Amino acid sequence: MSESKRRVGVLGLGHVGLPTALGFAELGWSVSGTDSDRIKVEQISGGGLPFYEPGMSELLQKHLASRRFRPLADIGLTVRDSDILFICVGTPHREDGSADLSQVEGAARSIAENLNGYKLIVEKSTAPVHTARWIERAILRYQNGKPEFEVACNPEFLREGTALRDLLHPDRVVIGAKSEKARCWLRELYEPLNAKILLTDLNTAEIIKHASNAFLALKISYINMVGDLCEAAGADVKDVAEGLGMDPRIGASFLDAGIGYGGFCLPKDLKAFISVAQEFGLSFSVLREVEQVNQDRIDRFVRKVQRALWVLKDKRLAVWGLAFKPDTDDIREAPSIHIASRLLQSGALLRLYDPQAMEAFRLVFPEEAERLVYCGSAVEAATSAHAILVLTEWQEFRTVDWPKVRQEVAVPMVVDGRNCLDRTVLEPLGFEYHSMGQPSSALHEVGVIR
Ligand code: UGA
Repeated sequence: MSESKRRVGVLGLGHVGLPTALGFAELGWSVSGTDSDRIKVEQISGGGLPFYEPGMSELLQKHLASRRFRPLADIGLTVRDSDILFICVGTPHREDGSADLSQVEGAARSIAENLNGYKLIVEKSTAPVHTARWIERAILRYQNGKPEFEVACNPEFLREGTALRDLLHPDRVVIGAKSEKARCWLRELYEPLNAKILLTDLNTAEIIKHASNAFLALKISYINMVGDLCEAAGADVKDVAEGLGMDPRIGASFLDAGIGYGGFCLPKDLKAFISVAQEFGLSFSVLREVEQVNQDRIDRFVRKVQRALWVLKDKRLAVWGLAFKPDTDDIREAPSIHIASRLLQSGALLRLYDPQAMEAFRLVFPEEAERLVYCGSAVEAATSAHAILVLTEWQEFRTVDWPKVRQEVAVPMVVDGRNCLDRTVLEPLGFEYHSMGQPSSALHEVGVIR
């Protein structure tokens, strides 16, 4: 078969599958994509996106028009029509922390039932070591007839908010495969990117992904732990992070202290990695601490707000940012959910604003007159507020019209959970500024608040 004829199929059109499908279409491949959620497939077919991701809408329009991307409701058709199949379904965590692989098994069974010739089946979803082996076993168990196939692992390293950039300009492409044929097919697929390619076996590729996300979480909890010391001892965690990051062995990224990590990936992958280790009789206690430090961020932040305001009951709090990070509308495992719950329990009145995530947040916290109000802008949320709490570092908060905000608030106070604002702008306007892991404003210095 000639390379240009090879067709790609993507199973699962979520935060990983849809960018992956569109990315391969952009690289010139013919791609079909399917999802068990028919409404989602219809929406995508009509040019709509099921979630916000910068640059995706344009790419979707482009490749629906070029016909290089075909959304299909029929999973069987996607399987039969493709030579390389990427499994991009969800792997949420179960109550005990282990990964729930039922969607992966479901995809494997659908592939098995529709095998109509050699297929390369690629595990892209983040899953525990030995999942590829299980996919292989499931296909052997459920297949009709005996067509040939191979399972490979090609983990994704896409961040929400920059998924397309990460896909089209990857730091590395990891290919775990058994045969030269599978390695060759996958290399060809990524050839236009000119990326660094690491070839491994299946188990190694699976562990690389889990170990990467767990390490990122570890870096964040580490800097948060150091930030707590900075705060107690009177140092600035931002400068400490800068000093640390100048050492190339440590690296400067993922050292932003704040209210901790959220999202669908880091929290669940950390849990799953700990659970996998446990299955092999290893404790991974360092990673349990990473989780604990992250959970404690919520409490630390709420206490900080409480110390700054004294009494929370009936205080109007502007909450700026609900998404787990900027440039996404995703609120899964977002610190904002836990913080909002705690503040509401304390009797505070919340005025919420996020550029993208309000719709999703509303489903968890419906609007309630006075107690929980969704606002159309950051300034509106700040109107008559006793404090502004920053929970996501959206760019628009950095560049908001601060003199205008100063006029609108009841009390000029900011508690910045992401250390993203500039105190040298805020303090001259009369704002009291509190952040994470840094000395606070005037009150701190005179020893009123410790
Ligand atoms: C993460 C990884 O970064 C990707 O490489 C991986 O492919 C993806 O998971 C996945 O497994 O699919 P993502 O969940 O989109 O990507 O978000 P990150 O950019 O990793 O941020 C995670 C959380 O950490 C966010 O809540 C962010 O605010 C927080 N964070 C990040 C910090 O608190 N401090 C930092 O220095 C960096």
